[in-house]
Amino acid sequence: MRLAFVTSNPGKVEEARKYFEPLGIKVYQLRVDYPEIQADTLEDVAEYGARWLAERIDWPFFLDDSGLFVEALNGFPGVYSAYVYKTLGYRGILKLLEGETNRKAYFKSVIAYWDGELYLFTGRVNGEITTEPRGSGGFGFDPVFKPDGFDKTFAEMTTEEKNRISHRGRAFSAFVEWLKENL
Ligand code: IMP
Repeated sequence: MRLAFVTSNPGKVEEARKYFEPLGIKVYQLRVDYPEIQADTLEDVAEYGARWLAERIDWPFFLDDSGLFVEALNGFPGVYSAYVYKTLGYRGILKLLEGETNRKAYFKSVIAYWDGELYLFTGRVNGEITTEPRGSGGFGFDPVFKPDGFDKTFAEMTTEEKNRISHRGRAFSAFVEWLKENL
């Protein structure tokens, strides 16, 4: 089986390949820009993007919309994560949390799969924002996010380790369960 992953993020592609290939599912990347609307939830952003793409792409595909939600910032950057990462980077998050003792945060991922109908799969991982960046793997906010129960940040983990516990790995897992039951 082959799955088209619409994304311009090579880090997401790497995670998807490492997750799906051992299951005999080949992932190929489709680099098509789609609108990421300003909305209150990742689900709305993912759904809008998928429906927009569905009018332009003739075969099944999936996309992923993710965000980092920081408790002390009332869930910011959340749906604005891509913009905040582009403008301030992970150092901006460290700066916003300077002197803050509540470092709790979670990552959430929404996968939208389109095959003539739309299906959403979500995953979440709780953790905390470190005080210093650590590690060189992964992408985005990985160097400053340490999942609960682990001493390493996502950027200090291998892709396989990150996939086992991450928001995206969990969304992939829900997606695979659905594929097994429905295909
Ligand atoms: P989007 O899903 O590409 O819109 O991601 C929003 C922002 O969160 C981007 O800046 C990503 O770099 C960041 N992001 C998404 N997923 C992850 C992740 O697994 N680790 C670290 N940063 C992430």
